[in-house]
Amino acid sequence: AMAALPLVLWALTAASVLAEPAVYLREQFEDGDAWTRRWVESKHKSDYGKFVLTAGKFYGDVEKDKGLQTSQDARFYAVSSRFDDFSNKGRALVVQFTVKHEQEIDCGGGYVKLFPSDLNQEDMHGDSTYNIMFGPDICGPGTKKVHVIFNYKGKNHLINKDIRCKDDEFSHLYTLIVNPDNSYEVKIDNKKVESGSLEDDWDFLPPRRIKDPEAKKPEDWDDREKVPDPEDKKPEDWDKPEVIPDPDAKKPEDWDEEMDGEWEAPMVTNPDYKGEWKPREMDNPAYKGKWVHPEIDNPEYTPDAQIYKYDSIGVIGLDLWQVKSGTIFDNFLITDDPKLAEEVGNETWGKTKLLTRALRCPQDAEKKMK
Ligand SMILES: *[C@@H]1O[C@H](CO)[C@@H](O)[C@H](O)[C@H]1NC(C)=O
Repeated sequence: AMAALPLVLWALTAASVLAEPAVYLREQFEDGDAWTRRWVESKHKSDYGKFVLTAGKFYGDVEKDKGLQTSQDARFYAVSSRFDDFSNKGRALVVQFTVKHEQEIDCGGGYVKLFPSDLNQEDMHGDSTYNIMFGPDICGPGTKKVHVIFNYKGKNHLINKDIRCKDDEFSHLYTLIVNPDNSYEVKIDNKKVESGSLEDDWDFLPPRRIKDPEAKKPEDWDDREKVPDPEDKKPEDWDKPEVIPDPDAKKPEDWDEEMDGEWEAPMVTNPDYKGEWKPREMDNPAYKGKWVHPEIDNPEYTPDAQIYKYDSIGVIGLDLWQVKSGTIFDNFLITDDPKLAEEVGNETWGKTKLLTRALRCPQDAEKKMK
C-alpha cells in the first residue's frame, strides 16, 4: 500500500496535467508598446493602414479596453502575430476576440485569419493561404455577416448558413469552436448563434447520395393527376361570337349612304359569349403518381472524419479593407477549451461592456451641451 500511494498520486497529477487547457495565444494589449514586437506589419504593399493602440472614444476601462485600432480611412490593413505552432488534431479549437466598430462602420472587415506557421508574415496579403477566416464583415446595409471560412484540401469554403453580425458601436465578443467530432459552434457575446456539423454546413465533400444517372422515367409513365373527361362534349349551342353589332343602335336620321357609305351598327360585347370550351377534368385512371428519380450512393463521396483538422496553426492575422476606420480589436484568445474561453470572455468583454454603455451616455450628453 505504501508503494502504491505515490503511484496513485502520480496518476492523479498526470490526469490533471492532461486536463489542463492549452492556451496557444492570449493577447490583451495590456503592456504598452510591447505589442509592436509581437505583431508584424506586412510589407507586401507600401501603403497599408496603421494600427494604433487605444481604448477609443469611449470605454469601460481605459487600460483593459485598449486594443488595436484601424486609424486611416480607405486602407488595407495587414498585421499578424506568431505563436507556438500546434495542430488541433483530436482536440477542440477555440478562436475568440472582440471587435468594436466605434466609428459606426459603413464598410469594412472585422475578421481574423489563422495561418499555418510557414506564413511569411512580412509578406502576408489577401491571397496568403490561411486555415480559417472568422469574424464579422460589414458593407452597406446588404452585408452584415459573420464569415466562417475553412481551407479544406487547398480550397476555401464558405459556410452555407447566414450568420448576422453586430453592427452597433459597442464591443462584441466573437467565438468560433471547432470540435474533433466535426461539429462547430459560433457564439456572439457568449451566446450561441449557430452550430451544426462541418459536413452539413459547408460543401467540403460531394453529396453522399446522387440521382441515379442510369435511371430514367419510363416513356409510358403517366404522371398526369387529372385528365380531360372524354365523356364531356361541347354543347351544340356553345359557340357564339365574342362581339356583335349593337342591337340597340340605330342609323342616324341624317345618314347619307352615298356620302357616308353603308351604315353599320357599332360592335358590342356579346352577352351570350361563353369563351373557349374546355372539357371538365377527371381523375386520371392511368395515373401512376409522381415519378421519383431513384438515388444511389455517390461514388465520388468519401467520408472524412478529420475535416476539422489542421496540421499547423501558428499565426493569427488581421488582413482587412476598411472604408471608415476606427475598429478596435482586442482580447484575442486561441485555446482548446471552450469553457476557459467563455470564462475569459466574461472576465474581459463581459466585465467592461456594461460600464462602457453606462459611460457612453454621459459623454453623449456632454457633447450635446457643447
Ligand atoms: C459567463 O457569464 C454568464 C453570464 O453571467 C454565466 O451564465 C456563465 O456561467 C459564465 N460562464 C463561465 C464559464 O463562467
